[in-house]
Amino acid sequence: MADTIVIFGASGDLTSRKLVPALYRLFAKGRLAAGSKIVGVSRSQFEHEQWRESLRTAAEKFVGKFFTAESWEAFSENIFYHAGDIKDQADFKSLATFLDSIETEEHSGRVYYLSTMPQLYEEAIRQLGKAGLADDSKGYRRVIIEKPFGTDLATAQALNHSIHGVFREDQIYRIDHYLGKETVQNIFALRFANSIFEPIWNRNFVDHVQITVAEEVVIGRRAGYYDTSGILRDMFQNHILQLMMITAMEPPARYDSSLVRDEKVKVLHSVRKMVGSDFANNTIRGQYDGYLKEEGVPPKSQTETYAVLKLYCDNWRWKGVPFFLRSGKGMSCRTTQIVIQFKNVPHILFGEKTRTPVGNRLVIQIQPAEGIQLHFETKVPDSEMKTRTSTMDFSFQQASGTELPDAYQRLLLDAIQGDASLFARSDEVELAWGIIDPIIAAWKSPAAPDLFTYPTGLWGPTEASEWMEEQKREWFDVCP
Ligand code: BG6
Repeated sequence: MADTIVIFGASGDLTSRKLVPALYRLFAKGRLAAGSKIVGVSRSQFEHEQWRESLRTAAEKFVGKFFTAESWEAFSENIFYHAGDIKDQADFKSLATFLDSIETEEHSGRVYYLSTMPQLYEEAIRQLGKAGLADDSKGYRRVIIEKPFGTDLATAQALNHSIHGVFREDQIYRIDHYLGKETVQNIFALRFANSIFEPIWNRNFVDHVQITVAEEVVIGRRAGYYDTSGILRDMFQNHILQLMMITAMEPPARYDSSLVRDEKVKVLHSVRKMVGSDFANNTIRGQYDGYLKEEGVPPKSQTETYAVLKLYCDNWRWKGVPFFLRSGKGMSCRTTQIVIQFKNVPHILFGEKTRTPVGNRLVIQIQPAEGIQLHFETKVPDSEMKTRTSTMDFSFQQASGTELPDAYQRLLLDAIQGDASLFARSDEVELAWGIIDPIIAAWKSPAAPDLFTYPTGLWGPTEASEWMEEQKREWFDVCP
């Protein structure tokens, strides 16, 4: 059986940089069913051949040594282009006719990928419905929706409402590319395919959890989007809360999309609502020092490019264990890591009595040095009973000898195969906004905590380090 992948917003960057290279890799690995079609839709006028050529140039660049002229030739035969305007009903009718004309009896269904401007999502869905393109009586019809899914709870609810008017929830795939990362999926394996971590993965043994997504890059030419979004909408509502859910969730009975997502959603339900002084005490806002000079940024912008949130999950497993969530642009290096910091030993036999052990932690390196490290105390050889921190180090690269696949490969394949485990459900997205919205509102209020400026290329505001010291804890500021 073959599939059709229709990409709306085909002339955009994501299509040439991520989506088509991912589909090409799937094809080259034999994972895309023979005869599957890829159809790009956007307003620009292209001949099929012209579009294939432009994609080829991008694929050569983004696929690297995996690219061969021969396999590209075979792959690109099944790439098509259909010019169309999301606002034009006639264009959807002609798209429907075109799709029917290229599909054969072997086709099992279609995935529509919305990679347009987010303001067009509702319209695109409505038009798909009107043109009969959501009707799955002759084959499956699924829709993938890119981030951002709304800009707050109200807009996310409205978007969910419109989509549910056309597609059933099981046809909807809200993408968060962090869930496509191998290392994020490996958290499921680490936690639920081993018995050694589970007994200590709770409030009895864990002192706190740190989830850091640090980026060296600054906002570049994205001011138009970024200045209205800020880091809470851009990184926390989606990627960082996803990491937190997978770290904190209970084991599902089976690895099944409903059961996995039920458990993730329970984590969001357990997150303690911030009230009153919590916003000042448990959040930190920052902006890198060159932000106001970036092209397109308003001169007095108060948009955050760095944030820390201290959240608690009020449930049996995690009661009282702080989750420190942190992300920033213009940081020392690019690193995404989850640190499970275990409690101090109950009684110190060796070394200074006041010393907080730096060991006793598990570091899950999501990227770029994908791996896991266990830090623990060992005796310094040829000393009296002095200890130091040593590391057991697992690297995906060394273990598998190959590069890890890009997140979009996994997610596209899952959507084609109808597995929604790694996609966000409607309640998940709305609950996540329910956590983030009050913080955004508090940060806009007259009582907003100070916005600290931090030097680009370091670990964020010094105030964040001082604050962590007050918490009697230390940031794990280590570049991989
Ligand atoms: C995107 C954000 O969703 O994720 C970007 O909009 C951010 O601002 C990016 O840079 C980070 O993704 P990754 O995979 O590079 O960590």
